[in-house]
Amino acid sequence: MVCLGNICRSPLAEGIMQHLVKQMGLDWEIDSAGTGDWHVGQGPDRRSVHTAHEQGIDISGQVCRLFRTSDFDEFDYILVMDKNNLRDILALARNEEDAKKVSLLLGDKIVPDPYYDDTQFLPVFKMIEQGCRDFIQRVITKK
Ligand code: 4NP
Repeated sequence: MVCLGNICRSPLAEGIMQHLVKQMGLDWEIDSAGTGDWHVGQGPDRRSVHTAHEQGIDISGQVCRLFRTSDFDEFDYILVMDKNNLRDILALARNEEDAKKVSLLLGDKIVPDPYYDDTQFLPVFKMIEQGCRDFIQRVITKK
């Protein structure tokens, strides 16, 4: 799960996806990272922590990190929140195999950055939750 700061959207995406796969009994490893390094080492934004907590998900223990090239080796899917993230991550792809792993979480839509608008955290949570549910369905029906 990748966004710009790794403090608002992708920590929600990590927490929500972990919650859903656990509910479904799937043994998937989920992690998140950012393309920008301003908040590395910090916990998620308190508004994301609060919104997730209200929905029964604890993301308070997460620590912000940068996306690294080895993530292409570690993970089967790299899900990004918006088109800037898509461009930035694709720029790091070493080959076609790396690039094929990268897609927008919402398919053809973006998860907007809520950083400058407190009212957007719950809508963003709901968008990500639906995106995660749809993604899980796509993957498990493909197998
Ligand atoms: P995120 O939101 O990409 O969803 O984590 C942002 C967090 C911090 C900044 C930008 C977006 N920032 O500029 O510090």
